[in-house]
Amino acid sequence: MLLEPSLLLAASLAPIAAASPLHPRHNASTPCAQVSAAVAAQSGVAVPTVAARVAYECITSVPIKKDAALKLLDSIAVYFKWQSNTAWLKDPPKQYVEKVQPAVDIWAKYDEIKSKVEAGEYANEFEFGISLYTLGQSTHDGHFVYIPDSVGGIFNWARPVPLVSVSSDGKELPKPYVYSDILAESFANSSFKPSPISKINGEKATDYLEKWSQLGSLQDRDALYNNVFYELASVSLGPVGSGIGTFAGSGRGRWAYPGAVTHLEFYNGTTYKFENYAKVLVSFTGVTDGESLYESYFTIPTGTSTVAAANSTSPTPSTSASATATPIPAPGYPPPIFREENNLIGGYYLEDDYSDIAVLSVPSFVSLGSAEIPFQQTGEKFLAAAKAAGKKKLVIDLSANGGGTILQGYDLYKQLFPDGIGHAAADRFRAFESTDLLGQYFSRTSEKLPRAYFPEEQNETLWELESDVVSSMFNYQSDLDKDDKNFPSWPAKFGPVENHGDKFSSLFRWNLSDVIIPFNSGGIYIHGYGNLTNYTQPFAAEDIVVVTDGYCASTCTIFSELMRQVKGVKYVSLGGRAKEGITQAIGGVKGTNNNPWSYIQSLAQLTITELTNSTAEAASLNKTELGSYWDDTPFYRAAAGTSINVNFRDGIRDGDESETPLQFIYEPSDCRILYTKAMTVDATAIWKAVADSAFGGTSHCIAGDLGSTYGKRTAKELTVQERIYSRSLHQWRRDLSVKDFPLDVFTDLSGQDLDRHGIMWP
Ligand SMILES: *[C@@H]1O[C@H](CO)[C@@H](O)[C@H](O)[C@H]1NC(C)=O
Ligand SMILES: *[C@@H]1O[C@H](CO)[C@@H](O)[C@H](O)[C@H]1NC(C)=O
Ligand SMILES: *[C@@H]1O[C@H](CO)[C@@H](O)[C@H](O)[C@H]1NC(C)=O
Ligand SMILES: *[C@@H]1O[C@H](CO)[C@@H](O)[C@H](O)[C@H]1NC(C)=O
Ligand SMILES: *[C@@H]1O[C@H](CO)[C@@H](O)[C@H](O)[C@H]1NC(C)=O
Ligand SMILES: *[C@@H]1O[C@H](CO)[C@@H](O)[C@H](O)[C@H]1NC(C)=O
Ligand SMILES: *[C@@H]1O[C@H](CO)[C@@H](O)[C@H](O)[C@H]1NC(C)=O
Ligand SMILES: *[C@@H]1O[C@H](CO)[C@@H](O)[C@H](O)[C@H]1NC(C)=O
Ligand SMILES: *[C@@H]1O[C@H](CO)[C@@H](O)[C@H](O)[C@H]1NC(C)=O
Ligand SMILES: *[C@@H]1O[C@H](CO)[C@@H](O)[C@H](O)[C@H]1NC(C)=O
Repeated sequence: MLLEPSLLLAASLAPIAAASPLHPRHNASTPCAQVSAAVAAQSGVAVPTVAARVAYECITSVPIKKDAALKLLDSIAVYFKWQSNTAWLKDPPKQYVEKVQPAVDIWAKYDEIKSKVEAGEYANEFEFGISLYTLGQSTHDGHFVYIPDSVGGIFNWARPVPLVSVSSDGKELPKPYVYSDILAESFANSSFKPSPISKINGEKATDYLEKWSQLGSLQDRDALYNNVFYELASVSLGPVGSGIGTFAGSGRGRWAYPGAVTHLEFYNGTTYKFENYAKVLVSFTGVTDGESLYESYFTIPTGTSTVAAANSTSPTPSTSASATATPIPAPGYPPPIFREENNLIGGYYLEDDYSDIAVLSVPSFVSLGSAEIPFQQTGEKFLAAAKAAGKKKLVIDLSANGGGTILQGYDLYKQLFPDGIGHAAADRFRAFESTDLLGQYFSRTSEKLPRAYFPEEQNETLWELESDVVSSMFNYQSDLDKDDKNFPSWPAKFGPVENHGDKFSSLFRWNLSDVIIPFNSGGIYIHGYGNLTNYTQPFAAEDIVVVTDGYCASTCTIFSELMRQVKGVKYVSLGGRAKEGITQAIGGVKGTNNNPWSYIQSLAQLTITELTNSTAEAASLNKTELGSYWDDTPFYRAAAGTSINVNFRDGIRDGDESETPLQFIYEPSDCRILYTKAMTVDATAIWKAVADSAFGGTSHCIAGDLGSTYGKRTAKELTVQERIYSRSLHQWRRDLSVKDFPLDVFTDLSGQDLDRHGIMWP
């Protein structure tokens, strides 16, 4: 029930009201039966919704089963061992604790949860599930994630009102607004002056939102804050982004119960209250109470135990997964010069006095379909076109970029800087029994095989071995040591090396000139290597500036480490909390590789069943730690359509003697720019503010400085093409309207290929 809808412009709330029918409670005996009845009344609706309160009452009425909970805990422990940074999370550097996040002792929390289960201290299954989910989430390592069925498998939470946080003039600290108010003011009724939100649920709005933001996946608090809100870059990613923000239930907001209602109070004194809702993700046919919900969705089928999870053993994204058929809208983005069809990368120009600026927008390093080749080609074609058109400066916008395919990050860097070194950090993983055994077996198998890339049709058996085993990091012949030399043996690569109270592999790097790179890159070679060496650098480093919303994670951080450390390219951070001072541009997980648990399981199983040369050897290997990956419980008990990952590799900056994982290093950006209202509806407003600050002599930085010496931007003689393009931008801007901006873009990873290895999934 939406109370007092007239207080907000009806145009803005109408689509949401229609999308979330909050059905009155039915007269049923249990909350789950009420959900069931409400769902039944919405036949034909793809994703039925119910009031958040009744969903919460239903999910918290599900009993906890002690034996099953303990079995789940036992089955996940072996995967936790793969998490690279547990020792550092437990005892992080002082600056990380002061400015980023507190320490987390994963194993102590794990033991605590186990004791509570044993002592019967959890009131219900959901309470147990939340504590298990929170164990991972509280590390703020976006690669370390497990979403139990009770937390994300039945309901996703949401609020019908997305917000934004904007500064009135680019200088005053930001205040939160209802996004549809901004849309109304921008496009429907310019005499309407929306009021900022002063309080949420009786608490100072910015305090409430900061606390809410901490439920997200990122480590940086300003990046977390930005992620609460509607953002054009996230929306352009459709279901694989964090869409309309965590406040409204996209991204990690879908797993945080927002309470039954939300009260907003505005500075002008108006108050507004609305009911929160839950999306119902499964059929409730036959569900009558918490017990029957448990029986339907939280149990493990007896008998055969193969689950759909384990399959490919290759870190290469599956090429069979097809890209989305219908193009995803990119509201607020101007007509592109080139754009990958899922909006993962796009090239744009600016108009009039900004006609010398090219913009490369990269909200993902490939999170969808088999987009590696089109992604590479979009970058190539756009950079060549921008040079040919005489563009002088390049703005790169990495907003919303949670990573993707690791080698795509290296390749984009090498497209920009084809000459010179291709590394800025080295990798390492936890050295323990499982990783050692895998390396021994993968290496010994690979020694008998060629290192070659060829079409699958040529020799399917050999092709599978090449893609699954020979090209794997567990073959010592893959990768280089930190001095760019080949490793002579597996023990040389494995180490172990002691650091911070734990044991790690030797430091290593990708061999970017490896002939079998395409097995790990989704089919591309890397610019600057092999036969892709005949490229000239398109822009000088000082003519490039990068802007981010802080979300930058995983592969995005690899790319950024190269840009900043090797080439000294300046970084701008957008938005952030309503606090003075500089913020970080790279606020997402800086681990350099995530491993899905299903991939880990398949590595272990393949080694035992395929890489041993007798049943006796297989049986004896099965008695080691490698034999502890047969249990499918973690996959059955995870919410469907969610990613289950560990952070497998740390990134260690070149020259850092302490070998501190980059994850724990605080790095202020070069300049912080606040979001304005215009920037929430028109991406070019962001790019112009950045271009002004970097190249135009007019700084919008409220902290930091880009040392712009370019002088005041003046009208230059436009070419015919530039005049035509400028006109098309003016026309595009005039045509924008409220209805172009969907208010219902939610994260939905079901049916996606979640096998990518350099990504923080939302
Ligand atoms: C609602 O449920 C109560 C108790 O279960 C029952 O007494 C009452 O008749 C029901 N009302 C309707 C309209 O079904
Ligand atoms: C435009 O906004 C003003 C101020 O809020 C209001 O008085 C007026 O009725 C609005 N006009 C329309 C057409 O909605
Ligand atoms: C107060 O602000 C809210 C939120 O922008 C708006 O909906 C409402 O119309 C405003 N009320 C008055 C009396 O201006
Ligand atoms: C594994 O992949 C094959 C081919 O892609 C598919 O047919 C099979 O169903 C998959 N197995 C599982 C358990 O997902
Ligand atoms: C495929 O490769 C394997 C391993 O090298 C080899 O034994 C086999 O003969 C090859 N098959 C074909 C059809 O070439
Ligand atoms: C990199 O890979 C290629 C072949 O794939 C190999 O010849 C070379 O020795 C490797 N190491 C270096 C340092 O290039
Ligand atoms: C580079 O080499 C690969 C494999 O040898 C080949 O498939 C590709 O077409 C070559 N690319 C160019 C640009 O020549
Ligand atoms: C490299 O590029 C230049 C200019 O684009 C071209 O003239 C030359 O033939 C190319 N060389 C090779 C080896 O492809
Ligand atoms: C299995 O094969 C490897 C590699 O060829 C060899 O080193 C090992 O001795 C063999 N083990 C057995 C039990 O045959
Ligand atoms: C390994 O051991 C597990 C029991 O721990 C068993 O289920 C599995 O079948 C064994 N696999 C092999 C290949 O020996």
